Amino acid sequence: MADLHILVANSKGGCGKTTVATNLATAYANAGLRVGLYDCDPQASARHWAETRSEDLCPVDLYFCPAPQKIEPAKTQDYDVCVYDSAPGLATKPTSQSDFEALLKLSGVIVVPMLSSAWDIQAGEHFIAQLMTQRVWRARPRPIAVVSNRVNGNVTSQQLQHFLSCSNVPAVAEFRESPIYADAGDSGQGVMEMKQNRAARKEFKAWRLLMSWITENANSHIRTRLPAAPLAAPRVTGIVRNSEKQG
Ligand SMILES: Nc1ncnc2c1ncn2[C@@H]1O[C@H](COP(=O)(O)OP(=O)(O)OP(=O)(O)O)[C@@H](O)[C@H]1O
Ligand SMILES: [Mg+2]
Repeated sequence: MADLHILVANSKGGCGKTTVATNLATAYANAGLRVGLYDCDPQASARHWAETRSEDLCPVDLYFCPAPQKIEPAKTQDYDVCVYDSAPGLATKPTSQSDFEALLKLSGVIVVPMLSSAWDIQAGEHFIAQLMTQRVWRARPRPIAVVSNRVNGNVTSQQLQHFLSCSNVPAVAEFRESPIYADAGDSGQGVMEMKQNRAARKEFKAWRLLMSWITENANSHIRTRLPAAPLAAPRVTGIVRNSEKQG
């Protein structure tokens, strides 16, 4: 099995799951780690992202797995880091319960992107509460972090802060509302790779904060190999292997 399994999840649609998953995948790939990105959403956004990724960038292997219960943990051992991008409705649709369980079983740490509107916060709180009552999670509680996404000004609302402090879930990073995320998504990149872009560079600190939290909460095995500081320069060549097969 890979050493680090990051589940990016929130039942709320459009909160930034694929954005966070693809950006984390590229950040770890640029740090010289072997990265598998598992697209567990039938909408296949991460697969489309990978299809547009240039072969000149660090490789991120994409597996399209709309049925995550079919992912065999043993097959993830080719990677140092596995990132799971999940579908909206996880935990809320009765049909998605087995997907939810399967993804929780695979996960080592869980990142929950959240927008800042009252509805988003309410849905995010509900999702985290559901997550923490899942049998699989209770049997082995995995570290959970919230990241605030599309932040415009000073947002982390009191309601969210109160909930997080009661549930012991940290809010570890805030990503700005910025067109750089759509640009990165459309061109198969991560913002950490867009070093020439000023708007992208403004986001580096937040991504490093998230990665530091992941490093602190990853198992000791991988911790020594994860980047805590600025990421290594991209390798010059690389292949993106897009696969229809599940991992
Ligand atoms: N920080 C940001 N600033 C501006 N746009 C953003 C930001 N984060 C995400 N977006 C945009 O918001 C839209 C939704 O993001 P994304 O697809 O990552 O959400 P999602 O949670 O994966 O959605 P779904 O639930 O449909 O899978 C995309 O168009 C994306 O480019
Ligand atoms: Mg998505």
